[in-house]
Amino acid sequence: MRVPQVFIETFGCQMNEYDTELVRAILKARGYGFTDSADTADVVLLNTCAIRENAHNKVYGHLGLLKPLKKERGLVIGVLGCMAQNLKQDILAGDTLIDVLVGPDSYRALPDLLERAAAGLKGMVVDLSEYETYADIVPDRIEGVTAWIAVMRGCDNFCTFCVVPYTRGRERSRDLTGIVREAEALAASGCKQVTLLGQNVNSYQDDSHDFADLLLAVADIQGIERVRFTSPHPKDFPDKLLEAVAGHPKICKHIHLPLQAGNDRILRLMNRTYTRAEYLALVDRIRHRCPAIVLTTDIIAGFCSETDAEFAETYDLVRRVEYHSAYIFKYSERKNTIAARKFADDVPDAIKAERVARLVELQWGISLKKNRALIGQVVEVLVEGDGKRADQWRGRTDGNIVTVFPKIADGIKSGSLIAVRITDATVTTLYAEAV
Ligand code: 5AD
Ligand code: SF4
Repeated sequence: MRVPQVFIETFGCQMNEYDTELVRAILKARGYGFTDSADTADVVLLNTCAIRENAHNKVYGHLGLLKPLKKERGLVIGVLGCMAQNLKQDILAGDTLIDVLVGPDSYRALPDLLERAAAGLKGMVVDLSEYETYADIVPDRIEGVTAWIAVMRGCDNFCTFCVVPYTRGRERSRDLTGIVREAEALAASGCKQVTLLGQNVNSYQDDSHDFADLLLAVADIQGIERVRFTSPHPKDFPDKLLEAVAGHPKICKHIHLPLQAGNDRILRLMNRTYTRAEYLALVDRIRHRCPAIVLTTDIIAGFCSETDAEFAETYDLVRRVEYHSAYIFKYSERKNTIAARKFADDVPDAIKAERVARLVELQWGISLKKNRALIGQVVEVLVEGDGKRADQWRGRTDGNIVTVFPKIADGIKSGSLIAVRITDATVTTLYAEAV
């Protein structure tokens, strides 16, 4: 019998990339094969993101493109992940191309739902769980020198703008032993770098172990050369974690520390539970203990009722902190969030866009300055694969900055950890030569 072929398209964050690997493992165990295009697939799955409106629109766009294929060949279409809660109504109303809808905690139900869909029955499982961590499933990873491990799922912070607590449910952690065993297996198969993922990694808890314990345990595994993590919440960054990052040679000197806003009233409205002064004090504490640290951030411009003067405080904070890079977003109202229920989305779109543009321009100047300051220095790069050009290698510095260099020396391959001298720099990329 012909093996049914599945094409999975993944939208959104690293957690979704990881979930796609889990879904592949679940489907593979039930005899499905995989293809890299909708044209050759029997089943197309979209692993979706709901964090901002444009992510949402992109998924609708892609669904539209599948319409002719569904008509021609009776393609089965499944939607996975964070948009599941939102699309429930569409399925119930019966007015959709979607055959199968599965939320982030219900991927184990997918094979059964696909079998029913092949027989013409639409179905969905979108319940959220307080326990599901998929701890027993080994993700079907595309072989490489880097890998993700989700160490916790869900979020209990309820930042007022954020849909994640609703789409991904309550916080829960995997146990440390299982994570270490998975990382050991990765090391044995040639993986050099592990990134520990969670919506809020500082809330990681396993009996007596906290996130610093976990990070150190993974960093001590033989064969793992680098450990990264994302993201911590600035409300709690314990000294113990800072000591781990600063003190362990294999824990990368990079912290992604989402700011969101630099004004106290807006931070309060966002329910971020820290003040501007507390955030700045944390940055000082981190830089004092670990001067080599690379800091990056996320910022939202144009949150409900944000004035010009309040935005100016965010701008000022970015200028002061000088992040190495930043993701900067227009506020996008998400259905059912606290902000959508309690506050008016009243900053005009043109002003949101202008604030984003001003921050981006400021940040690009800072990023370029910081990258150019590295010219002439020798840094260690983990080679991840080919650059855009086949005669170049692409890798990252310990601080996570993309670095490209010519393939001249022999003996270098994906997974090599080598010293390069930086010769040139742009806003996003370092150019180097092997030394
Ligand atoms: N609008 C804009 N940006 C958002 N983010 C989360 N929710 C929203 C929203 N409603 C951003 C935050 C978060 C990042 C992952 O996405 O900056 O840190
Ligand atoms: Fe969303 Fe805040 Fe949780 Fe991050 S910490 S996932 S921004 S609610």
